Amino acid sequence: MNFELKTLDLAAAGNEACDAMVVLLGAAFKPGKDALSALVTQVHKAGDLETKAGKSLQIYRPAGLACVRLVLVSVGEGSVRELRQGVAGAVTAIKGSKLKKLVLCFPADPQAEGLRASMAALADASYVFTTTKSKPEPRTLQRVVLALPAAASLKTVFEQTAAAVTGIEYAKEWANRPANHATPSMLAGAARALAKYPKIACQVLGPKEVAKLGMGSFMAVAQGSQEQLRFIVLRYTGAAKTVASTVLIGKGITFDSGGISLKPAPEMDEMKFDMSGAASVLGVFRALAELKPAINVAGLIPACENLPDGRAIKPGDVVSSMSGQTIEILNTDAEGRLVLCDALTYAERFKPRAVVDIATLTGACMIALGGVRSGLFASNDELAAALLAAGEASSDLCWRMPLDEDYAEGLKSNFADVANVAGRAGGAITAAKFLQRFAGKFPWAHLDIAGTAWKSGTAKGATGRPVALLLQYLLASAK
Ligand code: BES
Ligand code: MN
Ligand code: ZN
Repeated sequence: MNFELKTLDLAAAGNEACDAMVVLLGAAFKPGKDALSALVTQVHKAGDLETKAGKSLQIYRPAGLACVRLVLVSVGEGSVRELRQGVAGAVTAIKGSKLKKLVLCFPADPQAEGLRASMAALADASYVFTTTKSKPEPRTLQRVVLALPAAASLKTVFEQTAAAVTGIEYAKEWANRPANHATPSMLAGAARALAKYPKIACQVLGPKEVAKLGMGSFMAVAQGSQEQLRFIVLRYTGAAKTVASTVLIGKGITFDSGGISLKPAPEMDEMKFDMSGAASVLGVFRALAELKPAINVAGLIPACENLPDGRAIKPGDVVSSMSGQTIEILNTDAEGRLVLCDALTYAERFKPRAVVDIATLTGACMIALGGVRSGLFASNDELAAALLAAGEASSDLCWRMPLDEDYAEGLKSNFADVANVAGRAGGAITAAKFLQRFAGKFPWAHLDIAGTAWKSGTAKGATGRPVALLLQYLLASAK
């Protein structure tokens, strides 16, 4: 999606030739002396546009305006949520038409959060996945002009959000691909492709190198699959080499069948999304390539499949992690933490300023927070506050969860240093407590995105979350 930012008042916006112009009409709308204002005033007087956010009225070839279609859409009081509803409502109204150029018109300058949310909502509503369709109908919408009365003050926000959208769409592409089109080596290929951009380097480790590092926990998960594991190391160097990196670790289970602790058949296809954490890391790097901020970031992706097989790990097996801690694998379906723990140990070598892991880790987190907020766990209050704030600013929300030591009780094992599962109660928290054992040497946060990374049902597909949150957090850290 190609966004452009222009300073246009209502009169100038009306003269902008396009296939569709969407005008976001809030309660505070003040008409001017232009043709568009006159039309809006008439519509309001006639009571033909309900004020509830998302309600719209479409007019074809309106007199005195340069657009083919005019969509007037209500955004209520103009809150972030209402802007999102308004944009989504407008795009739905014109979805059948093959639009190439759209003008999104803000009669008054929005807040930064409002602009970010509107751009993200527009991209989201017009996104289509075509990679595995034989006769793809590609997205026709190529150009979106954002028309604001005083665009200059929002230029930075605009540029950052345009880059975030590029990253979100990169993450969606990879998360949406079925497991046979997104194997661990294909993910590595995507990471290598990112290294073609300036300041980005990529290193891919295979089974031999990973064995040499002693990543016995990660290797244990991969051993039931014919697909070789990959450990992907991405580096973005935008600042001096002496500046400590932030490390992002993305869970890259390209398919999670559960292994010998096999999952039930219904909806098992959705476990192709179990590399959404990895996809979000790729998406963040795609956005960094656009923005080139003065920071250093490392991205780590342990990628493999979790399948049942004659060689697969069995419940009760004990493996040795890279940290030296032994793990009793009581449930082979709790595989995410097994690949992440070795990546956390690997992260120590960066002497990072912070490590954030991102994982579709537990069904329990989905039960706890649904699809609205990701679960945030953090060993460090400052890091937690920064991530919470980044979530609010980017409308990519998270919610802090507890890490009391008492939650770790259930992870005790008679046969190893730690077990990979505790009871059903507090499942998202006990998973985080497991990870925390491997994250003692740096400020650490964990985002459980099991509920937020994709949608089920008719809208089944990746959301691209939490690319926006992570990017916002990284950019704020540059100041
Ligand atoms: N990838 C799943 C988590 C998941 C489940 C995400 C459903 C989204 C929807 C993870 O590997 C898993 O299977 N977790 C288990 C852990 C349990 C065995 C302790 C779970 O949540 O059931
Ligand atoms: Mn699992
Ligand atoms: Zn999983």
